[in-house]
Amino acid sequence: MIYSVAALPHRIAGAFDALDSPHLNGGQQLAVKYFAVAVVLFLAQVLFGMLSGIQFVAPGFLHGILDFNVNRMVHINAMVVWLLYGFIGSIYWFLEDESGTEIAGLKWGNVAFYVLTAAVTVVVLVYLLIQTGPGKDASIWFINEGREYIEAPRWADIGIVAVMLVFFYNVAGTFMKGRWSGIAGVLTLDLVALAGLYVAGMFYLTNITADQYWWWWVIHLWVEATWEVLVGCIMAWSLMHLLGARRKIVQTWLYIEVALMFGSGILGLGHHYFWIGTPDYWFSIGGFFSALEPIPLVAMVVHSVYDAGVHNFRSRNHPALAWIIAHTFGNFLGAGVWGFMHTLPQINLYTHGTQWSASHGHLAFFGAYATINIAFFYLAAQKWRGDVWMGGDLPGNGWKWKWALALLNLGVMGMTVALLIAGYEQSFVERAVGGSTWEGYFAAQNQVWFKQAMHWRLLFGLVTTGGVVLLVWDLLTIGKGESRKAPTLSEAA
Ligand code: HEM
Ligand code: HEM
Ligand SMILES: [Fe+2]
Repeated sequence: MIYSVAALPHRIAGAFDALDSPHLNGGQQLAVKYFAVAVVLFLAQVLFGMLSGIQFVAPGFLHGILDFNVNRMVHINAMVVWLLYGFIGSIYWFLEDESGTEIAGLKWGNVAFYVLTAAVTVVVLVYLLIQTGPGKDASIWFINEGREYIEAPRWADIGIVAVMLVFFYNVAGTFMKGRWSGIAGVLTLDLVALAGLYVAGMFYLTNITADQYWWWWVIHLWVEATWEVLVGCIMAWSLMHLLGARRKIVQTWLYIEVALMFGSGILGLGHHYFWIGTPDYWFSIGGFFSALEPIPLVAMVVHSVYDAGVHNFRSRNHPALAWIIAHTFGNFLGAGVWGFMHTLPQINLYTHGTQWSASHGHLAFFGAYATINIAFFYLAAQKWRGDVWMGGDLPGNGWKWKWALALLNLGVMGMTVALLIAGYEQSFVERAVGGSTWEGYFAAQNQVWFKQAMHWRLLFGLVTTGGVVLLVWDLLTIGKGESRKAPTLSEAA
């Protein structure tokens, strides 16, 4: 059978339309599309993570076919993109509820989704198929921009910015048309900062110090400032929706958290300016302000546990609440504790760029950002099925979400500890004993503790992968055939 190419976009749109459900509003239909792509990219992330992990213990594996640099790049880019898809979806999810009106320019929001998804597909194909050859000016435009986590070529950057403008119009336009709230105000300002920072990673500089200087504006100021504020907004909304928490309390916490987050996170940027050739004053600024960064994360744990406790942990959606709690603890541990461990320059001198950083990177990204997205996937699954019961006592099905939760958290925690051991060993053998020499580097890589840790990482990576597969299976089946409705929660007095 021959398909006409012109009909292809129509067919793809048709496939996504199968995700529509009569129980959802316009923004939520679009959110589910974003969530579906996010889940596919999450699977891709763990697949390419496993390939890179195998290459650590068997360097010849897929050599010349799918090299480590490509697998690693796809692994972390898929992560950034799926988390962003999840965030965008989460905002579309609650936009109509929060504003009390229909989304402004939803049609354009839908077009933007297809444009973005087509661009992501092309970028991934180019990552996989064309990454060797001479580096020319054109490479930056079409192949790879060369900045870790945001390697996408420049044509895609411009497309991403255009899509973000549509998204921003949807959000700000809807609140303007309907009602503003504290959450709406914080969210809108945060999106301006988040999109603006992305531009700092788009220009090419030949001086590596200057280039890294600006690159960190995207990476650090995303994950330690703007994304944290974004998840603060998302969590505030979900606590009201899940538990019936009072808006006044939730918003007060939000303001406090945001103030602390920006107060410490913006100058905390300095913890990446210790060794890249920037002036010495960054030692004090970076050390001091980044050491304060865990404080708002503690506030978030207190906030969510307090709210859940006040409502006796009665919620409309148990899996979602469990993942929200996992988020606050994961954020505190992965970002706050694991970040704090190596943020003082006296310590970072030894740990910089070792597996210690990878240990922190895994627990922080998973704990702070994967978790809260998964909570929203569960909210979506519930409403998609018609706002069905997802409390305790899910007949026949209840084991799946619990096992997915357990396997994922155990898997990531296991990888984190394995990498931490490898990082300790590197700090001792390569840095302290070996004096940061080339010889010291190889001595550390060949030390038995390092090698064992790489095997343990792989084993726990397998556990993580099992968790993701189970999670996807659960999301596709949970609530199927359930006839009981979710309880309605009245606002606490
Ligand atoms: C959810 C929030 C966070 C995420 C997702 C995150 C993620 C990461 C990642 C992936 C890296 C490695 C970057 C690279 O490739 O070089 C990194 C580095 C670093 N992070 Fe975080 N982080 C977070 C919060 C924090 C906090 C709160 C602190 C301090 C209290 C911190 C301290 C550091 C330091 C010092 C480094 C540099 C490590 C080195 O010298 O190699 N991070 N972070
Ligand atoms: C399926 C299990 C996984 C395996 C086997 C795996 C493996 C790997 C490997 C081998 C690297 C390269 C490390 C290096 O260059 O030294 C890496 C990097 C990274 N992975 Fe994973 N990964 C897995 C899951 C995840 C998950 C679930 C997340 C977060 C949601 C994640 C986030 C990251 C980050 C942020 C980096 C960059 C770290 C840095 O630059 O320091 N990975 N992973
Ligand atoms: Fe940072």
